[in-house]
Amino acid sequence: MKRFALLISPRAKSAYFNDYLEVAKAELAWLFPDLAVEHLKIAQMDFLLLSVAEDCLPALARLSCVYGIFEQKGEQEDGQLLPLAVTTDFDLNEDFVFGSKFKGKTNETLTQMLMNVGLASIEYDDISKVKLLDPMCGRATTLLWGMRYGISGKGIEQESKALADIEQNVKKWCKVHKQKHHFKDGFVGGSSGKQSKSKSKSKQGKNKFIDFSANDATMRIITGDSVDTASLLKSDKFDLIISDIPYGIQHFTTSKTRNPLAVLEECAKGWSEVLKNKGVIVLAFNSYIPKRVELIAAFCRHNLEALEFSAPHRMSESIVRDVVVFKKVS
Ligand SMILES: C[S@@+](CC[C@H](N)C(=O)[O-])C[C@H]1O[C@@H](n2cnc3c(N)ncnc32)[C@H](O)[C@@H]1O
Repeated sequence: MKRFALLISPRAKSAYFNDYLEVAKAELAWLFPDLAVEHLKIAQMDFLLLSVAEDCLPALARLSCVYGIFEQKGEQEDGQLLPLAVTTDFDLNEDFVFGSKFKGKTNETLTQMLMNVGLASIEYDDISKVKLLDPMCGRATTLLWGMRYGISGKGIEQESKALADIEQNVKKWCKVHKQKHHFKDGFVGGSSGKQSKSKSKSKQGKNKFIDFSANDATMRIITGDSVDTASLLKSDKFDLIISDIPYGIQHFTTSKTRNPLAVLEECAKGWSEVLKNKGVIVLAFNSYIPKRVELIAAFCRHNLEALEFSAPHRMSESIVRDVVVFKKVS
């Protein structure tokens, strides 16, 4: 065991404002339970000090809140900090996730935290075999993070314009970073030709998709209503469902209500159906609307149990964002 100092990223500070230390500690504690952590502040730099084995360093470097890792030399608490060259080895340039800005984009650091919390809550041997779904995927921040981790995923988004926006953004970064890639598009039907209830379809009544493949991972984004998840995804089963659900204030749901709870109650059954046993759902939500207890009640009706994780942080006067995690129980 050696003593290390994790430097908190300025990105985490802008994602979580005054609550960044609590959120960083919550993520760390979920991945490394029972670890004693101290806070050290030097000028504007915040560090979390901890003692771990050296083979933990790559996982610590992937924590969303970590900007760099230092070894603390000597026995003294104020021992010198030596920067370490610990790399994160993600696939795809970080511009694929961070480069494009658009209205309604989920904070990239939060999205990485959701990925880390989800991955720490499931069992897997080979990360490339993990299957990810974002059933309200917007412009694919979660799915692109998934591809950086080497994970293939699918997304559903009600706004039909999202597909063209995603393609345009991703093509730009492929060109800038000379990334080999492949695009494909087409239509998926509902199960046994069943027509989706959603309005976000083509004239033929089928739901459009695009696939983007790079390195060994692929993401598919389907235009459609998340209420139809089970029929849109047919026999697909997922290890992880990760989504930043509409905040009510900025995002209206398909039924044009400010409270996303009604739509989520309709979605919960289908999301649970496409989740593997012991698979996990990680949701970011505005804890004013819906309330955490209401969200838990809506999902726990469908073979899901809420795990202990939470990471509340204020984003604005009207939004305190939080994270809830559900595990599928048979
Ligand atoms: C908070 S945004 C997610 C943003 C996304 N993570 C990103 O960074 O692009 C929530 C998304 O859910 C979508 N949405 C809301 N209700 C939906 C529904 N019933 N079916 C599919 N998508 C829905 C909205 O259109 C919006 O894009």
